[in-house]
Amino acid sequence: MKKIIAGNWKFNKELRNKERAREFIEKLEKEIAGIENVEVKVFPHNLVLPYLAGKTKKVKLGAQDLHWTEDGSFTSAQFSACDIVNLGVKQVLIGHSETRFYFGVDEKKVALKLKAALKEGILPIICIGEDIKEKEEGKTKQVLEKQIKEGILPALAEFSAESKPEFLIGYEPIYAIAGFAKLRGKEPKSARIEDIEFAHGTIREVFSRAGYSEVKILYGGSSKPENAKELLSQAFIDGLLVGTASWSLPSFLQMIRIGESLG
Ligand code: 13P
Repeated sequence: MKKIIAGNWKFNKELRNKERAREFIEKLEKEIAGIENVEVKVFPHNLVLPYLAGKTKKVKLGAQDLHWTEDGSFTSAQFSACDIVNLGVKQVLIGHSETRFYFGVDEKKVALKLKAALKEGILPIICIGEDIKEKEEGKTKQVLEKQIKEGILPALAEFSAESKPEFLIGYEPIYAIAGFAKLRGKEPKSARIEDIEFAHGTIREVFSRAGYSEVKILYGGSSKPENAKELLSQAFIDGLLVGTASWSLPSFLQMIRIGESLG
């Protein structure tokens, strides 16, 4: 099975420069021309997305977020689902913990965003995950279940009359995300394999009870060339959602090549 390696450029300053972003994507596109066992995705900032969209074949571009409203009298720098489609982009991250933490995205908003994406035929990569306190209190299962049941399943249900909508899950335990680890004064460190296995098992179980039997799950949180082999070798990990290590072309490429070698 092809693994997915997705780079989330977040708010990286250098990659918000359109020349730099274009150069990165052009080089990446060339370097992965022969890659067969890895699907490569990149989620640039909105500012540069229009300069990159439509210029890639192998690299599948996506937006980092969307707003569910199509038209409205409110001040905002958001993209709507139609804006994303108009750019020729067909995937979006939804509910990333940074949007939850910094911009107040909750389960209700995740559901609205998810519906807007599905309505426009955009593939959503829905991010869920527990924070350190919840993990230490043994609430991982409870948190994931709540996020799936309140934010995701009701939205999916509205589209599943004929066939089940396509989506991907990003399991990103908040404590393992480099930016959040740094906020706590900790060294960024990936979650333990057994914790990821437990979380992915829980996610699959909740979806399966709701009739979604084959859910693909990407792991995100301090993944980098040094741990990519261990992470990508696990059958329960369908791919990686990479933040920091995707901002440097050599390290992102190294991870893609590791994925390719395992295929
Ligand atoms: P890091 O790889 O920087 O920990 O970020 C993970 C992430 O949030 C990807 O969406």
